[in-house]
Amino acid sequence: MQFADGVERLRAERPRLEFGAAWDYAPAPEATDHLRLDGRYGLYIGGRFVEPKSGRWFATINPATEEPLAEVAEAGEADVDAAVRAAESAQRRVWGRLPAAERGKYLFRIARLLQEKAREFAVLETMNGGKPITEARDVDVPLAVAHFFHHAGWADKLADAFAGRAPRPLGVCGQIIPWNFPLLMAAWKIAPALACGNTVVLKPAETTPLTALHLAKLFDEAGLPPGVVNIVPGAGETGASLVNHPRVAKIAFTGSTEVGKLIQRAVAGTGKRLTLELGGKAANIVFADAALDQAVEGIIRGIYFNQGHVCCAGSRLLVEESIAEDLIARLDWRIRSLRVGDPLDKNTDVGAINSRAQLEKIRELARAGVDDGAVMHQSDCALPGKGYFFPPTYFTGVAQSHRIAREEIFGPVLAVMTFRTPDEAIEKANNLPYGLSAGVWTDKGAKIFAMTRRLRAGVVWANTFNKFDPASPFGGYKESGFGREGGRHGLEAYLEL
Ligand code: NAI
Ligand code: MG
Repeated sequence: MQFADGVERLRAERPRLEFGAAWDYAPAPEATDHLRLDGRYGLYIGGRFVEPKSGRWFATINPATEEPLAEVAEAGEADVDAAVRAAESAQRRVWGRLPAAERGKYLFRIARLLQEKAREFAVLETMNGGKPITEARDVDVPLAVAHFFHHAGWADKLADAFAGRAPRPLGVCGQIIPWNFPLLMAAWKIAPALACGNTVVLKPAETTPLTALHLAKLFDEAGLPPGVVNIVPGAGETGASLVNHPRVAKIAFTGSTEVGKLIQRAVAGTGKRLTLELGGKAANIVFADAALDQAVEGIIRGIYFNQGHVCCAGSRLLVEESIAEDLIARLDWRIRSLRVGDPLDKNTDVGAINSRAQLEKIRELARAGVDDGAVMHQSDCALPGKGYFFPPTYFTGVAQSHRIAREEIFGPVLAVMTFRTPDEAIEKANNLPYGLSAGVWTDKGAKIFAMTRRLRAGVVWANTFNKFDPASPFGGYKESGFGREGGRHGLEAYLEL
């Protein structure tokens, strides 16, 4: 079904809200003067910031302005080795021997300090990553804090959580994280590892190392013993050195399916434990009996939130045919009201794309959508002249064979398709190699349960989308990875039982 004509007609009938100069939003930029950036950041190894043995440094930028923020040390193989040895020694001599309740106290202290410095971390996350300050402030930082609090509470309850078994730490955990939630992914990985008595070598993503490095300063302030957490920025090569290090007991990775497969191959047969949280192509399924305006807000949150840089983003909209035109009209109007621009402005809904490379990938896939024959609709909002930006976009006339319906775009681009029966919705939702998340919108509770049982996805949201809680296990099926993070399930990945 092609909605192109329908959308053109609806746009004419329902023009974008124009407030006029007197009624437009005045800029509301978040202050940045409370944030102190260092000119250079060394590697954080053994409780100190050290010069890299590699001798290499790289510039990290603000993707909204393309201006450099700082120089960051790049860890080479010898640096990763030093970090792993520091972690190993800290695990054997200090952290692994501490009474569990003492480990918990450190984690509580870290959580409280992070809460106190919430503003600094939110601003830094926005400047280095490009996400709107409202999201860094209301989502990333509070959730990171919640992960430390949650796991602080588990530290002395592991024997109860796994009654009849003898939970023991694994040793040194190598953790490799992506750029879409740099602070949250660091918290998400470090907190359970430490709660379980392990020590950590963390590799942040090459475009977003700064909040992890500021977290290292916070660990110092919390008095965390040296070597318990080590932070080694760098790109894929640094990550590979960590994966291949013989003294690492476990690898936890979040990132692309492509790299996840490489890591799985590298780890096979070594006895290292592995959890992978990879890509997704979630179906957001809207039934005719759903509350449509509420569904529109959920769809918006599901794909335009964080510029679509979300592994569990609702990037495929499956809408029941009888309401498709109505829903798309509402969605189109709402998309055109989204404010795209300066991520530090508190009015901004959609911020900067994280990197030039990611922007190119989004552009390439959007072009593929058009070439494959789908119809592209974009917000006509003005984009800033500098920085990496992409307008909120959706496609109608999408076939399941189109690349935009099958591949992870990781940008603010939605593929809209229709269905007639629940069976058809399930069939379409499940027919990709991914299985991370899905959404169901309906007024009927029974329908929610019937659908969630049949959807092959690690997380299914009902009448909401992209809600997270540290107590709730998160993870995928099939090519979206394996293992769960969060809650009691997530602890298992960091314990010998
Ligand atoms: P990526 O998978 O290359 O990067 C993720 C992390 O893995 C980074 O820290 C990176 O330095 C590291 N890495 C890269 N190559 C490695 C290797 N051979 N061994 C060990 N570590 C390695 O993802 P990239 O290139 O930044 O983004 C490409 C696509 O991946 C995105 O467009 C998106 O579709 C997907 N992606 C999915 C994420 C998720 O949350 N599931 C997060 C980031 C990207
Ligand atoms: Mg890559």
